[in-house]
Order: sequence, then structure tokens, then C-alpha cells
Amino acid sequence: MDKLLVHGNGSLKGAINISGSKNASLPILAATLLSNEPSIVRRVPDVSDTNYMLQILRALGAEVERSSGTVRVEPADISPEAPYDLVRKMRASICVMGPLLARVGRAKISLPGGCVIGDRPVDLHLKAMQGLGARIEMEGGDIMLSAPEGLLGSEIDMRGKHGPTVLGTDNLMMAAVLAKGTTVIDSAASEPEVVDLADFLVKMGARIKGAGTRRIVIEGVEELKGVEHTIIPDRIEAGTFMVAGAMAGQGVTLRRVCRRHLEAATEKLEEAGHVVTFNETGTEVAISPGETPRGCDITTAPYPGFPTDMQAQFTAMFATTPGISVVEDTIFPQRFMHCSEMKRMGADIRVDGGRALVRGVQRLSAAPVMASDLRASAALVLAALKAAGTTEINRLYHIDRGYEHIDDKLLQLGGQVERVPA
Ligand code: EPU
Repeated sequence: MDKLLVHGNGSLKGAINISGSKNASLPILAATLLSNEPSIVRRVPDVSDTNYMLQILRALGAEVERSSGTVRVEPADISPEAPYDLVRKMRASICVMGPLLARVGRAKISLPGGCVIGDRPVDLHLKAMQGLGARIEMEGGDIMLSAPEGLLGSEIDMRGKHGPTVLGTDNLMMAAVLAKGTTVIDSAASEPEVVDLADFLVKMGARIKGAGTRRIVIEGVEELKGVEHTIIPDRIEAGTFMVAGAMAGQGVTLRRVCRRHLEAATEKLEEAGHVVTFNETGTEVAISPGETPRGCDITTAPYPGFPTDMQAQFTAMFATTPGISVVEDTIFPQRFMHCSEMKRMGADIRVDGGRALVRGVQRLSAAPVMASDLRASAALVLAALKAAGTTEINRLYHIDRGYEHIDDKLLQLGGQVERVPA
């Protein structure tokens, strides 16, 4: 188990490449199961979540080869049972449910357990599968789904208490592409990762219209073929380094980004007084700290709103930004674990009912802190870049779930960080 030592108060300068999106890779890797032909997926980030997904695909019977960012999956014979010891490691394993049900007519998956960012039910995933005619039984912590006669297209509303569901929309889309007839997904998630999955499925031969809007229409087809695909850039990794550039940069450039996916983060960085400049094609962005940074308010919302996956990182930035900032997470109202750790570093933050009131302090001071989930850990790294002294971030495996070689990228930018065994 590694920890990260961050020697604070240095500055970041230079350019790095942003990796392929973790959250697009996971459902797309699961979608390779929908054909019996091999598929090749490029720019899959080397993070532990994609590794878990590849282990699950292997355990389901697929042959998987990985060579740096390129993954080849050959899913000729597939078993419908996803093993508990792998599934329990990653909540996103739930997205093999749709493909298994569509391809094999059965799926057995362990019910995902608790999650540190809040209660994360799967009721909408189950509602979606039921809507297509699947039978569902629960036994011994497992969800058993079956559709012996095949799935039947239908109109399904996926809106939950906190808005649309990303992986729920993905699961329904992946099941509906092989269902008989037409499926209409109302209140669909419109995140770029959902669009990337739809693009992958369309290449495979699926008929999907409306991905990226709140209403997706799918005409089921008989079978799908294997294809090649390149994953979109990781907008959350890009956003995280944009914040690093604003907090501790002296001119940071990020390559291989997609401007359209970064609008909400860009808008808030500019509102906070920082300078964000994209190149003409929107594939490269330069960030410099503003001369008079100021606090501002953030409320998370489904895309194109401000992403919940960037909430912790902006909270870290506001911790040392003059003025008062109010950060509200409407999607995961309990996702504020990073605040107590940042308070140990001297931040002035009050968390109350899904909202954090952040009063910017002049300086943070280093302390040993504990990463609690992926984005919370990223926030601690950002806070540590601005702290006086050496911050020790424990439980680094959380950050390795979703940031490809974060320590190497920080070193490339001149950051003073060291990964050491705990
Ligand atoms: N929800 C339900 N019922 C369901 C499913 C979701 O009530 O059956 C609720 C959730 O509890 C939450 C809201 O709906 O309040 C939205 O959750 P969503 O289903 O969209 O989350 P997800 O699809 O499980 C993905 C990302 C998360 C990201 C969320 C929201 C992946 C692998 N994960 O999760 O990413 O926070 O969408 O944008 O795509 C991360 O990368 O750090 C991460 C947690």
C-alpha cells in the first residue's frame, strides 16, 4: 500500500497529456461482451478500475490482451456469472448486467455494497431491466436476472431522486440494443461518457438516436459485430489538473483534452479569476493563476452542469481562495469526506446538509491525511500542493483507481512528490 508525499508550496509548469476516460472505458469494455467477435479499445487508462473490469471480463470467459493503452477483448464464450470477489471491488461492475442479459439471457451479479460517497442504490438499473421484460430475483446478496424469451423494447423513464443515472442509462442502452423492437429511454443521462458508449455501440451495428440528450431511442438489432474504438479524453482528470494549474501553476498546458466537455469547470475557474486558454481546435488548454482570485459558488448538476466528480477538487481550491465559497452537491449530498481531512491542514470549512461553506485561508499546513475515495484523494493532493511543508497522503490506492500515473504527471510538471511504500 503506497502513500504519497507532497512537498508543498512549489510550482507547476509545463505540459502533460491527459489520459483516456476511466468512466467511458468501464461501460465500453463491458459492451465488448455484446458481440462474439473481438473488439479493440484504445486509450484505456492504466488505472485499477479498468484492471478490475478486465479481470471481470476474463472471469466471464473472455480472452483479454492489454498492451499499454490498447485492449483487445475476444468474448466468444461467455458465462453469465460475475464473481463476487471481483465485483465487490468496484461498483461499476454493475454495467456487465445489461450486456450479459442481452447476450446470454441471464446475469448473476452481487449487489454492490456501501460506498463512501453516499448511499448508491441500483433500483434504477433493475427497473430498466424489468422494463425490458427481465425477471429479477435476489438471493444471498446476488441479483439474478433472466430473460429466457429475450428482451422486449419498451419506454422507460430513468429519472431518480437525484436526477438521471449515468451507468443506469448505459446498462439500459446496452441491454436494449439486442432487444426486440424499440426502446425509448426518457430522462436519460447525457454525459459525454454515455455518448462515447453510444458511439461504440453504433459502430458495432446498434441503432441508437438521441445519445447526449434526455431521450434516447434504440431499435433493437439481431446481432452486433466486433469493432475498434478510441476512448474520449478524461474530462475529470483534465479538470483536476486545470485546478492544479490554477492553484499552483506558472503556466500549465494540458494536451489531448476536449473543450466541449470542460465548459462547466472552465466557467467556474474563470469566475474564480483564473486564466484558461484553449487552442483553436479545443484539444489543448493552458491555465494560469489569476492575479486576484476570488471565491464563488458551485452546485453540482448532471451534464452539462458542474460535475460532482469535480466538487472535491474545487473545494480544495476554494480552501485557499480569498472570500467565501459555497459548494453544494445535489447528486451525492454526502460526498464531503475530504473536508474533514482538509480541516486538519488548516482549512476553514463547515459542512452542513449537502453543502460546504468554505472561507479561504491564507495558507494550509502539511499534515498526515487519509484518502477516502477517488476524487477526495485528488482534492487532498491539490490542497497539499498549496500547503507549507510535506503532506503525507495515505491510502493512495483510492487515487490509483482513477488517475493514471498521477505522481509521474505531477513530476513532469515539476511538482515535488514522492510515492513511497506505507
Ligand atoms: N441512483 C439511484 N438509483 C440507481 C442509480 C443511481 O438513486 O439505481 C442515484 C445515485 O445514488 C446518485 C444519482 O442517482 O444520487 C446519480 O448516480 P449515477 O447512477 O449517475 O452514478 P453512477 O452511474 O453509478 C457515475 C460515475 C461516478 C459519477 C456519477 C455521477 C462511472 C463509473 N461512475 O456513477 O464517478 O460520480 O456517475 O456523475 O461512470 C468517479 O469517477 O469518481 C465517480 C464516482
